[in-house]
Amino acid sequence: MRMKENKVYIETYGCQMNVADTELIMGILKGHGYGLAKELDEADVVLLNTCSIRDNAEQRIYGRLGNLKTLKNSNPNLVVGVLGCMAERLRKDLVEDKKIVDLVVGPDEYRRVPEFIDLAFNGEKGIGVRLSKTETYDDIIPYREDGLSAWISVMRGCDKFCTFCVVPFTRGRERSRSLKSIIDEIKLLSDRGFKEVSLLGQNVNSYLDGESDFSDLLASSAKVDSTMRIRFTTSHPQDLSDKLLHTIAEHANICNSIHLPVQSGSNRILELMNRTYTIEHYLNLIDKARRIFPEVSFSTDIISGFPTETEADHQMTLDVMKKVRYDGAYMFKYSPREGTKAFKMDDDVTEEVKSRRLQEIIQLQQKISYQINQTRVGNEEMVLVEGLSKKSDEFLSGRTDSNKVVIIPNDRNIKIGDYVKVIINRATHATLFGNVLQNTASAQNRLALTG
Ligand code: SAH
Ligand code: SF4
Ligand code: F3S
Repeated sequence: MRMKENKVYIETYGCQMNVADTELIMGILKGHGYGLAKELDEADVVLLNTCSIRDNAEQRIYGRLGNLKTLKNSNPNLVVGVLGCMAERLRKDLVEDKKIVDLVVGPDEYRRVPEFIDLAFNGEKGIGVRLSKTETYDDIIPYREDGLSAWISVMRGCDKFCTFCVVPFTRGRERSRSLKSIIDEIKLLSDRGFKEVSLLGQNVNSYLDGESDFSDLLASSAKVDSTMRIRFTTSHPQDLSDKLLHTIAEHANICNSIHLPVQSGSNRILELMNRTYTIEHYLNLIDKARRIFPEVSFSTDIISGFPTETEADHQMTLDVMKKVRYDGAYMFKYSPREGTKAFKMDDDVTEEVKSRRLQEIIQLQQKISYQINQTRVGNEEMVLVEGLSKKSDEFLSGRTDSNKVVIIPNDRNIKIGDYVKVIINRATHATLFGNVLQNTASAQNRLALTG
């Protein structure tokens, strides 16, 4: 028996799937009698749930391990672990190169985290990096603080093998969680007062459980609680089906915003990236979605400076941005990743050119976001109130159906979790500002969302 409850502190880096995995790991640890530390200085074990997507993501973790080394010098009993994609990518190199690391556990071996921590307390190093074709952690209830928004991984892994991407190597093959277990989890969240669920996967359109595809899962999720917003990410442009578009249009509480990473506007580059679609196919999809529900909004991911990208290719990316007019975009400089196909290509776009192109992409996107937001001024929006604004307690912050942040004056009658009808009176490229017209609190939420 342990002398005292050992406390674990987990820091999460990378994508929302890691956020969801951290909750899963906390669920596993709780089930094994571990406590969760709120602060690093009360922890006996510190775990970093890491990301490998770009080199700078990994550099951040090395920096953090440097800090933890200092901490471990003053507290030699501290156990340090690396979880997530970097654990999977670097495996035993991490323990060998970074002497302070006691355990290294990849995304499919989280059930063994308690076992490895116990080993570490006995002075032994532990490495668990086997990938699985079936692990979905279906039976594990993630540990979540009370709140409004929850992330649920509905599938794991990725089979797409885009040539720039490490995810298929760090997360393994695609597999889906059972529809029933997801719906049960959403019911539990609804009972606890959650107001928003985001269904996650690297490629949610590949979701499959028996006969049920992702559209079926979305429709079932939407029916659990009509006052709950259902979001999802990420859709791959190759597999976004008509059925899915109709399902979104038919359910008032499935949000009308689609994250549809384009990566590049040039067909030649898309082919080198193995994205498996053309720009014509992509733009057709966008048109089709807009015909089915004109209020739909799109966001995207863009990479600048992929090997061989010319000035003309870059212009094509800017052109696509002008054609689609995204509400928002995540924009990155290409970062070569060892083990991927693109790593063997010559990383021939200079750092300077990559940066300049990225700046042009960012500036264009900011201009478009600003213009789109200006068209919202004067509109009425249904806003889910999420908390105090970051800048001042005199304002509250919430989001629209299309995932835009809205700032409203703080009023004691408004509670976190309320839906309020807001008239927008001002906008920047990132934020809308408005005044409350009507607080459609709790009992009327149902009407407010569907009416
Ligand atoms: N599954 C999602 C994205 C996962 S990674 C999809 O297919 O869209 C998130 C984003 O990181 C990618 O869309 C891509 O834009 C970016 N990214 C991935 N690998 C990268 C690399 N090696 N260099 C720069 N950006 C990268
Ligand atoms: Fe990476 Fe492509 Fe899979 Fe997205 S679809 S996770 S970019 S390999
Ligand atoms: Fe990073 Fe792994 Fe997510 S590489 S983006 S944490 S899947």
